[in-house]
Amino acid sequence: MKIFKLVLISMSALIFMISGCGNQKSLVDDRTETFVKLCGSCHGVEGRGMTGPSLYNCSVCMSPEKLSRKIERTMPLRNANVCTGECASELASYILEEFNGKKGH
Ligand code: HEC
Repeated sequence: MKIFKLVLISMSALIFMISGCGNQKSLVDDRTETFVKLCGSCHGVEGRGMTGPSLYNCSVCMSPEKLSRKIERTMPLRNANVCTGECASELASYILEEFNGKKGH
């Protein structure tokens, strides 16, 4: 029984490694998931705005630095410490790429 468990664990580790290896899509999916989870409730899962404003052509979306600073300091609203540093800059580039047509940032 113990052996069986061990085999199962190493097999799933292997599958995880293969599916995650150098796959850019998984990174994009991670950012999508983060955005939906942390921001989607107010900005909509597609960023078109609900109680929060639309993130298409938003007022701080002209520069990645401004955008990530805004997220780091104020977003998610009333819970800004949930997404700082790498999280803020990842979401800033996600917003620019997905909603503002700025690929390659
Ligand atoms: C509880 C609701 C709520 C959540 C959750 C939330 N926001 Fe906001 N967001 C707002 C509101 C309301 C505004 C407008 C007021 C302001 O700019 O502070 C705003 C403004 C913004 C702006 C500026 C838009 C502009 O045109 O200037 C950005 C960028 C932004 N949010 C990004 C995010 C990101 C990224 C997340 C997730 C990490 C997030 N928000 C989570 C409510 C929310």
